[in-house]
Amino acid sequence: MTPEFWQQRWQDKRIGFNQPDVNPLLISYFNQLDLPAGSRVLVPLCGKSIDMVWLATQGYDVVGIELVESAIQEFFAEQAVAYSVRADSKNPNNKCYKGEIAGRTVELWVADIFTLSAATIGHVDAVYDRAALIAMPKEMRPKYSEQVCLLSQNAAQLLLTLNYDQNEWAGPPFSITQEQVQQYYAAHYSIVELEGEPSTLNAAPEMAVTEHVWLLTE
Ligand SMILES: C[S@@+](CC[C@H](N)C(=O)[O-])C[C@H]1O[C@@H](n2cnc3c(N)ncnc32)[C@H](O)[C@@H]1O
Repeated sequence: MTPEFWQQRWQDKRIGFNQPDVNPLLISYFNQLDLPAGSRVLVPLCGKSIDMVWLATQGYDVVGIELVESAIQEFFAEQAVAYSVRADSKNPNNKCYKGEIAGRTVELWVADIFTLSAATIGHVDAVYDRAALIAMPKEMRPKYSEQVCLLSQNAAQLLLTLNYDQNEWAGPPFSITQEQVQQYYAAHYSIVELEGEPSTLNAAPEMAVTEHVWLLTE
């Protein structure tokens, strides 16, 4: 998946991955991370997800990373939140949009995730990955998972994945097996599956799709 692929998806408004409501699995399972209020949560490949609003209303600061600038502009416009923009001094192609929701700081980087460093995004206490790992094709996933570990300094993660017969559909979103989750993250985390249920998404009713929730802790 090239940057141009995602730019085109946003330009054409083919963003079926964007949910109108807060993800129920986030609501059910985020407390498993046991994060004190005021913690800072990294949302890689964040799009304009309303899940970030929920995180802020729960008392967490949010740092998101998204390739497509219009997605971030739409996020702040839809939430009617004022923002400031600053460029990354080390990489002027990257910008950080900063606003406040429910008294918490929401900083959204317009950047290719692979061009950012932990020093640039700042300290992170946890990671919420919804439709990020599964948006990466197989050959990019080891690099992506390493980068998330580097950026977050192995902070605990709530990871949501899908599983279906990859021969039935090309993706994205891509199917991820339990073995693959282990392959990407076992070097840095102990991994517990919190839930694995038939998907309630109706995008592909003819396919057997299961949604999986993983807790990754050091
Ligand atoms: C499937 S969407 C999921 C968005 C969001 N997590 C959600 O739940 O709605 C994947 C997003 O990642 C962004 N993206 C893809 N590759 C990226 C990269 N290398 N760096 C940053 N963002 C990227 C895309 O533009 C897209 O908005």
